[in-house]
Amino acid sequence: MSDEKKQIEQIREAFEKEFGRFAGFRAEINGLNLADAENFSRELAELKTKHTGKKSEIAGAKKLIGRVAPEARGAFGQFVQTVEKEIVSAIEEAKSNLKNFISEAKTERESLDVSLPGRRPGVGHLHILTILRQKIEDIFVSLGYSIEDDREIETDYYNFDALNIPEGHPARESQDTFYTTTGLALRSQTSTVQIRAMERRGVPIRIIAPGRVFRRDTPDLTHTPMFHQIEGLCVDKGITMAHLKGTVGEWLRRLFGKETRIRLRPSYFPFTEPSAEFDFSCFKCGGTGVFDVERCRPCKGSGWIELGGSGMVHPNVLRACNVDPQVYSGFAFGFGLERMCSLMYSLDDIRLMFENDVRFLEQFR
Ligand code: DAH
Repeated sequence: MSDEKKQIEQIREAFEKEFGRFAGFRAEINGLNLADAENFSRELAELKTKHTGKKSEIAGAKKLIGRVAPEARGAFGQFVQTVEKEIVSAIEEAKSNLKNFISEAKTERESLDVSLPGRRPGVGHLHILTILRQKIEDIFVSLGYSIEDDREIETDYYNFDALNIPEGHPARESQDTFYTTTGLALRSQTSTVQIRAMERRGVPIRIIAPGRVFRRDTPDLTHTPMFHQIEGLCVDKGITMAHLKGTVGEWLRRLFGKETRIRLRPSYFPFTEPSAEFDFSCFKCGGTGVFDVERCRPCKGSGWIELGGSGMVHPNVLRACNVDPQVYSGFAFGFGLERMCSLMYSLDDIRLMFENDVRFLEQFR
């Protein structure tokens, strides 16, 4: 082999060595990330200048053609051209494949799948107690009752005197009631609203009053120092205990189903005479006391659930509101919302309702 030809072979070898890392790109490109592809493409452009530019070795080698003996010149010239073409086409193939790959990868990166479902922003919902309260409110509104709201801090008069709770009654003791430094009491029952509502609206009246009440209880499974009650009051001419029974039965049937029965048990409250506690047949076992061959949980196997207190409004309460007990009579009732909620949802711990842990709350919407 002539020296010139050897030189061209060396140029080819040198190129092949450097081009080696790009050689794979002459075929289809797979498994490359966009950033790497862009780096390769930049390096390949440098390689191209180096091996095919004006100052490249192959460009210099063309000058050798003139020095070859005339009879060998044609063949040598063709050889140089072949090698040059090989170099150029190797680079061009790899370059165009890289370019396509890069442009496809960019399109993919920038494309947006509009058919994908959007991410929903987290939406809050009502608290379990609010949901139950609103259900009960709706029932009473449909029975012709209005919703009454009133203050949570009361004077002794509204908290006790007007409700016929005498001086010395245990409920007045400061170990049961929270007092402010100025002697006002945080209401310990929503019954205070009976007085406020009758003063404001007069009679006849049909209201329910949901609201917060406060008692000096240490928090445990069934007590919190703040909880909610719903109070009911109906005063008109000719109201009897039958209306009380009918009304309480009706709203419990609307809440728990047509089969629900209620019963009244004699009791004592200062602001009613006669007084009764009301129970309803268990919503879970239907009053049988047995659920799934086991003792029913909400009613503890008795078939009855104790819910609240009630009675015929005491004449002294009516008098305190300037209502003549000879002309008007009425019934009232009150019960705790948290207790009702715990029974309905089998909650073991009433405090869960006030801890504001969304993992608990989001189960009830
Ligand atoms: N206020 C009573 C309590 O907190 C419940 C109650 C009993 C309300 C009888 C009434 C009623 O309106 O007539 O335990």
